[in-house]
Amino acid sequence: MNYIGSKLKLSSWIEEEVKNVVGDDLSQKVFCDLFAGTGIVGRTFKNDVKQVISNDIEDYSYILNRNYIQNSSTLEQAEEYIIQLNNLPLIEDGFIYNNYCMGSGSERQYFSDYNGKKIDTIRLQIEKWKTDKKINENMYYFLLASLLESADKVANTASVYGAFLKKLKKSALKELALESANFDLSSNKHVVHKEDSNTLIQKISGDILYLDPPYNQRQYGANYHLLNTITKYDNFTPKGKTGMREYFRSQYCSKKDVAESFNELIKNANFKYIFLSYNNEGLMSEDTTREIMENYGEYKLIKKEYQRFKADKTENRNHKANSTFEYLHVLIKKEL
Ligand SMILES: C[S@@+](CC[C@H](N)C(=O)[O-])C[C@H]1O[C@@H](n2cnc3c(N)ncnc32)[C@H](O)[C@@H]1O
Repeated sequence: MNYIGSKLKLSSWIEEEVKNVVGDDLSQKVFCDLFAGTGIVGRTFKNDVKQVISNDIEDYSYILNRNYIQNSSTLEQAEEYIIQLNNLPLIEDGFIYNNYCMGSGSERQYFSDYNGKKIDTIRLQIEKWKTDKKINENMYYFLLASLLESADKVANTASVYGAFLKKLKKSALKELALESANFDLSSNKHVVHKEDSNTLIQKISGDILYLDPPYNQRQYGANYHLLNTITKYDNFTPKGKTGMREYFRSQYCSKKDVAESFNELIKNANFKYIFLSYNNEGLMSEDTTREIMENYGEYKLIKKEYQRFKADKTENRNHKANSTFEYLHVLIKKEL
């Protein structure tokens, strides 16, 4: 998934740097990805460590991580379910079609009419199989993650769901084909949460804590509202031009609150090794970040030059640089 702040391209570098600090053998370590998003960082460590604890506040992220991280053994018949879902007769008046496609008169065009109906059809069938106990929880999350990934590929947006395009773009004209969201097998038990980072941190402990909070004011719940709507599939009344739903407002997207929240997080962390990914143009300055982390132990900063996320280029903003620096702040905590 093309996700703001995704560490897809940086995950091997992060893994390398973590090993440089902690050591090559992580097999007895508990690794927590507290702001997991697409789950790519936890996925990178899934077979290196004893346990991954993955967390994110957003519902769609929970689905992705519940599948990619917690699902660990082969799902019998997964491909058969995918084939069945791809071949169902389409229902005509589901929630996505009625509210986010032009043909229904909604005046919103997040998906082609065909794809909106297909999302509704698949989403409802997955829920019915779960209610009828035809599929277990692992299969349920695998199928939902497959739907989110496949729907996102045909979304008619520039990149995020804050707005839709007037005309259907080429990729949105393609018919949605449900593809398997394959996960890595693992003999260890991994867990996934959906909680506010600062609440969860008080209840867990481990060895390596990876932090990748939002670094600007853009709220993920607003930018990815439609993924939450497909996930929850609840009956609310979409409002306004974009059909936005209520969304969580993160303290990490607020200039006023970010430093205090970050300080609380580090203070309460029961982890020896803490790694923070943060952008050099983030709401919290490099100095503030360092000052906070230095209070709790041995600190160092690692920098890497990085290409800007594509969405930034489409917005008419006057950025000075084409590339930006990705920072990995490292803290070895003094006492736990
Ligand atoms: C920069 S993204 C993480 C990207 C992720 N590392 C990846 O590669 O996909 C930040 C994530 O933090 C989550 N988030 C924001 N505030 C949060 C909070 N208070 N508690 C938990 N998660 C939060 C967002 O939903 C978003 O997915």
